Amino acid sequence: YAQNARIKIDLDRTIGEVDPHIYGNFVEHLGRCVYGGIYDPDNKLSDKNGFRKDVMTAVQNLHPTIIRYPGGNFVSNYNWLDGVGPKSERVPRLELAWYTLEPNLFGTNEFMQYVRSVNAEPYFTVNMGTGTIEEARRWVEYCNVKDGPYYAELRKKHGFPEPWNITYWSLGNEMDGPWQMGHLSAEDYVKKAREAAKLMVRTSPGIKLVAAGSSNYRAGADPDHWNQTVLTELKDVIDYIAIHMYVGNPDSNYYNFIATPLVLEQRTKIIKGMIAQAMQTASRGDRDPIYIAWDEYNVWYRARRGASATGRNALEEKYNLEDALVIAEFLNAFIRNADVVKMANLAQLVNVIAPIFTNENGMFKQTIYYPLQLFANHVSGTSLDVFVDCKNYSTERFNLGLGETTAQLSKVPYLDVSATYKAGEVTLCVVNRNKEEAITTDILSQNGAFSGTFEVFEVNGPDIKSGNDFNKEVVKTVEKPAINASGNKIMYSFPPHSFTMLKGKLT
Ligand code: AHR
Repeated sequence: YAQNARIKIDLDRTIGEVDPHIYGNFVEHLGRCVYGGIYDPDNKLSDKNGFRKDVMTAVQNLHPTIIRYPGGNFVSNYNWLDGVGPKSERVPRLELAWYTLEPNLFGTNEFMQYVRSVNAEPYFTVNMGTGTIEEARRWVEYCNVKDGPYYAELRKKHGFPEPWNITYWSLGNEMDGPWQMGHLSAEDYVKKAREAAKLMVRTSPGIKLVAAGSSNYRAGADPDHWNQTVLTELKDVIDYIAIHMYVGNPDSNYYNFIATPLVLEQRTKIIKGMIAQAMQTASRGDRDPIYIAWDEYNVWYRARRGASATGRNALEEKYNLEDALVIAEFLNAFIRNADVVKMANLAQLVNVIAPIFTNENGMFKQTIYYPLQLFANHVSGTSLDVFVDCKNYSTERFNLGLGETTAQLSKVPYLDVSATYKAGEVTLCVVNRNKEEAITTDILSQNGAFSGTFEVFEVNGPDIKSGNDFNKEVVKTVEKPAINASGNKIMYSFPPHSFTMLKGKLT
């Protein structure tokens, strides 16, 4: 039998504007993300800059709006000066996060050429671990100051007369984590970050700063203390607080796994409350309040331990349909919290827990590529506070996939929904979590009428474990027959284990 449900849309009930930066991505010097991923100078598929053309086309079609670089854990023992200047003079370094030899043949200027070619905004993370605040300042000068001081002139000497004008800078990565090179306590972090911020902003007024928040919910850690300290101490200085989340399905329990993005939503609301509290005593002039940047999120649990976590082929997850549905739900969660989530970066872009996977002869798009592409290409405007009435289920306490973190969810709706409105068009994004049953749904407009035809896009596959490979894209976007709409009701049956996007007129 089929389940029934109702979705109600009310154009007067809005949440906030969707920031295009929620369709961000991430390039870290890790495994084959850079070398053998986006940059492969000896490969016949690469252009004169050494960029893989097949990968670049796939990236362009994904439309990442902002790309974070160069780490991740990598950045906490990285000196940006190693990656600039003539390649023949660059020296390899032992990098300690992933324990590899970093050849430094790809650095700031190569990344900037790449990011411009794919029409994305750059977002740099400075080294707050082993790096000094002066090193961070010099990097800002190198990138953003037109001419005059030494590092601006050095960039010009390196062949880049114009500054790169990088707006987004993060003050370190996961500095709360004991795994981080140069790990700090919350109190030490805010002191260092505040001084770094001062130097960086004086060097390039107008840059936007992201503080490293804590996402470490393992036993013994205290993420709330860290985040509260960051918000209290840096509230006048920063523009975003960065939080990370990776989920998985280590127990092979589909219904637990498919609910995990709701934990991200819970954490979003906790941080939102902390921000609101910090804003009460902040002196920010006419600046926006602090926003949340989920600047790392993804499914990641298979390639986490032992050999698969290090070396050249580190973190090479192969994704399936259930993973793609989880990514669609993460994106729905960002949309439902559009008032406070203003940036998100899928970690990462190529090969390393990534939507694009290469070998020396080609590439394929993983399952998770498709929902992200649909959102980035179709979902913008105002997020609506949509009402959903459907069956729910609850979970036992379960492992979120990180091994150390658990959750229990008492009310998981079978339909996961977001709705956005722009220029007379409404876009509904719906995941049907139910593995066996279609859910026949009345989509009701509270004010205004549907009209014309609604486009329908679906990401689905034969079963939840279906995945893609070279020359085999089983899970991908399929455009379904458009549906005619008129009046205040559309009926649609969402197939089992599917992501569906409906888009059409509502006026
Ligand atoms: O994306 C992989 C790693 O996960 C990043 O380097 C780090 O920031 C996080 O722990």
